Amino acid sequence: MAKTRTHYVCQNCGYSSPRFLGRCPNCGKWNSLVEEVEQGQLGKTVQPTTTLTGIVAKPQKIKEIDTQKTPRVKTRLNELNRVLGGGIVPGSLVLIGGDPGIGKSTLLLQVSGQLSVEGHSVLYVSGEESANQIKMRAQRLAVSGDNFYIYPETNMDSIRATVDNLQPEYVIIDSVQTMQATDVTSAIGSVAQIRAVTAQLMQIAKGKNITVFVVGHVTKGGVLAGPKILEHMVDTVLYFEGDLHHTYRILRSVKNRFGSTNELGIFEMNTEGLKEVPNPSEIFLEERLQDATGSAVVVSLEGTRPILVEIQALITPTVFGNAQRTATGLNRNRVSLIMAVLEKRANLLLQNQDAYLKAAGGVKLDEPAIDLAIAMAIASSYRDRGTQPTDAFVGEVGLTGEIRRVNRIEQRVAEAAKLGFKRIFVPKNNLQGWQTPTNIEVVGVTTLSEALKLALGH
Ligand SMILES: Nc1ncnc2c1ncn2[C@@H]1O[C@H](COP(=O)(O)OP(=O)(O)O)[C@@H](O)[C@H]1O
Ligand SMILES: [Mg+2]
Repeated sequence: MAKTRTHYVCQNCGYSSPRFLGRCPNCGKWNSLVEEVEQGQLGKTVQPTTTLTGIVAKPQKIKEIDTQKTPRVKTRLNELNRVLGGGIVPGSLVLIGGDPGIGKSTLLLQVSGQLSVEGHSVLYVSGEESANQIKMRAQRLAVSGDNFYIYPETNMDSIRATVDNLQPEYVIIDSVQTMQATDVTSAIGSVAQIRAVTAQLMQIAKGKNITVFVVGHVTKGGVLAGPKILEHMVDTVLYFEGDLHHTYRILRSVKNRFGSTNELGIFEMNTEGLKEVPNPSEIFLEERLQDATGSAVVVSLEGTRPILVEIQALITPTVFGNAQRTATGLNRNRVSLIMAVLEKRANLLLQNQDAYLKAAGGVKLDEPAIDLAIAMAIASSYRDRGTQPTDAFVGEVGLTGEIRRVNRIEQRVAEAAKLGFKRIFVPKNNLQGWQTPTNIEVVGVTTLSEALKLALGH
């Protein structure tokens, strides 16, 4: 009889304790520890010579390791290829996280269909929908293909056996929280289960060179449900996000062992499924009013691609109590900091003003280069003077009110020019070492007050 051991595991961060605790000492979350029973012999099932991937490893000379064998597989969705770093790497384990209803299953069903049409074999394991439901969705999305198997199953033993049987090139697991590893007694969806299921999926991916896409649910707080270990184990983590009230969806790479992170893929969701949006700047600027105050356009660099986004600000006097600071799609601390700099260095009396900030179109921006546009939108609303509709702004704001250099300035300026902007404000220090284009006026600024004067008139 194997010894059973009980421990308490934080469902937020994976911290494990032999005693129950009301508050996780690691992540500080309350009531997140759940009792999990672990079989004593579990640890012994891993042979000392076997790695986590299930392959018996031996040292190899680096120059003898052949990487040429595995070219990337391009899907028909270029936006997905971009986020993956140029296509699917065979044998990789890719996690796709996102809110319910955002379109994870839709995306994977579409990609599976396309891969199978091109002659690849795909096994789509669903723990959430029946074969019928998936078929109906597939019909709506016009997805078909010969070697495309739908498999409603949650038991990992059966899934592994089926994978051995079918030998598919791609396995889709929808979702990791619904799968069950039989050697773990904890409830489905618990940290121990997710860990065990992911470890088994990793063995499928690395041991058999099968590409595995895993869907992961996201908690209310916006992080992947389950412990961080899930993100550590997989090769690539993609987040599918967007406003459910808008049709645009953004696929973002937050971890990628085979490409750069912070790449964005932009899709539009409609009845026929997800369509790529090759020109995102146009959609983010689409609904902009030409002569509104409190609006400034920034060229933000998401991964390797510059996109233009309108930043909106509404500054109104505080009626009672403390001043409100609300930011949608922007970091609230960044906004507070810029407001403090505006107050101290540019003499804007903002302390008794409510501020509502928003990156239009449901996109989330977080890089220093958006500072100047945030400051400009705030000042524009506060002074009730509009920025020129053909002006764009790029620059980091320092605490002394200086405008600091940003990266990839050439690309940003070129994108603004391409979209018909006539003037772009950039940090003066960014002006050396490259040829400014002739179809857009590039204005170098050193301080925030100088930028405000030039763009807003005073
Ligand atoms: N019959 C339909 N026509 C149009 N859109 C639909 C239809 N059924 C579902 N959808 C869209 O697909 C979305 C569900 O996507 P899904 O891939 O199931 O999300 P997830 O797997 O991330 O939970 C819904 O939010 C809805 O917008
Ligand atoms: Mg789903």
